[in-house]
Amino acid sequence: MTERRRPVDRPRRAALDVLTAVRVDEAYANLVLPQVLRKHRLDGRDAALATELASGAIRMQGLYDPVIDACLTKPKLQPEVRDVLRLGVHQLLSMRVPDHAAISTSVDLVRASVGQGPAGLVNAVLRKVSRRPLPDWIDAVAPDRATDPHGHLAVAHSHPRWVVDALAEALGDDAELEALLVADNAAPRVTLAARPGLADVEELVAAGGTRTSLSPYGVVLAGGDPSGVPAVAEGRAGVQDEGSQLVALAMTDAPLDGRDERWLDLCAGPGGKAALLASLAAQRGAHLVANERQPHRADLVASAVRAVPPGAVHVLAGDGTRPPWVPGTFDRVLVDAPCSGLGALRRRPESRWRRRPSDVEVLVGLQQVLLDVALESVRPGGVVVYATCSPVVAETADVVRAVLGRRDDTDELDRFQLWPHREGTDAMFAVTLRRRGLA
Ligand SMILES: C[S@@+](CC[C@H](N)C(=O)[O-])C[C@H]1O[C@@H](n2cnc3c(N)ncnc32)[C@H](O)[C@@H]1O
Repeated sequence: MTERRRPVDRPRRAALDVLTAVRVDEAYANLVLPQVLRKHRLDGRDAALATELASGAIRMQGLYDPVIDACLTKPKLQPEVRDVLRLGVHQLLSMRVPDHAAISTSVDLVRASVGQGPAGLVNAVLRKVSRRPLPDWIDAVAPDRATDPHGHLAVAHSHPRWVVDALAEALGDDAELEALLVADNAAPRVTLAARPGLADVEELVAAGGTRTSLSPYGVVLAGGDPSGVPAVAEGRAGVQDEGSQLVALAMTDAPLDGRDERWLDLCAGPGGKAALLASLAAQRGAHLVANERQPHRADLVASAVRAVPPGAVHVLAGDGTRPPWVPGTFDRVLVDAPCSGLGALRRRPESRWRRRPSDVEVLVGLQQVLLDVALESVRPGGVVVYATCSPVVAETADVVRAVLGRRDDTDELDRFQLWPHREGTDAMFAVTLRRRGLA
């Protein structure tokens, strides 16, 4: 009886709330987390613990579920109980929580959230899990590495098998595949972009950051809440992966002959790149049209560019496949296409489990149309950057090849593919194209 009344600690209760919201409401963990932390009045170390528990348990479920299943005597498990077990396994196999604490808090948690019924099962499963270290469990539940290398890595590093295959194809061979999967499971550093003319990098360095090596506007924060940095709160700087900064700069820095005044961001929401582009446009006497199909995301773009002088940017809510402007209007165009996001798995713990191969097939059609529109929207001699936060070949090189194969007026100037395990950025792809002829 005394056991039953023991209060559940708030970080674990909060982490379970996040897993429930992700499973039941299809919530995004990174969006629901701040609300849940507020509800449970968690900050500092407790907030960090709840975040690690929830993110880790969701991200690593591709490994933890076979471990849990190997410890069950009956195949059926209530989803609510599995969530508690995932949190428990994460503490036992991937965190430094002592076994007795991980097990007893999980038993308390299932009692409080589901009832007394599954308490014995949770206790028994977690005791079994605690008897072997992580490498032994991987050997026990993952396919054999020699005969099925991708199958092995998929379980060992908790990625869907088809994602492992697609990432291997994008890398070209398997030499760096494991390093990439490991990088996908590590929390990304928080990077800020100082928007030129509005904030300078020194101001962000003074707020406790260090300069990034690839983007001249980037600063990595040592820790803390970025919204507490005054330049971020005022829209003069923004949270932005260094890879995204490099994509925006590929568009603004591509060599261009002739007029350089009219810029377009065809798929601008939520507006991180548009804010960097708009601040550069303001400095260079150019004007940016930031277009986004979804009105609520267009509102986010308007908020992202709020510190930019109004004459330098105009936000438009419209379908980029049916643009209102006449062909050849723009000098520079960025098409940061809707994509599978498989290059940004570090940021969204649940996204790898939501995506399906069929999503890529649907997106590829839209990506081709948007790239075609971008090339129609730019004047002869103008430049287009096509970018994705996915390295998947079908969404990157294949889209470019298909679209250029139908046109005879476009040259490729440059392309890059960034990687979390190499550059420490999201796996951003960008290709710079120029329409032949000078206006
Ligand atoms: C990868 S995101 C762009 C990210 C953005 N450039 C940034 O840096 O914040 C792709 C965006 O394209 C938008 N989108 C999808 N279909 C579109 C269309 N037909 N026309 C314009 N935007 C579209 C999505 O709503 C999404 O906001």
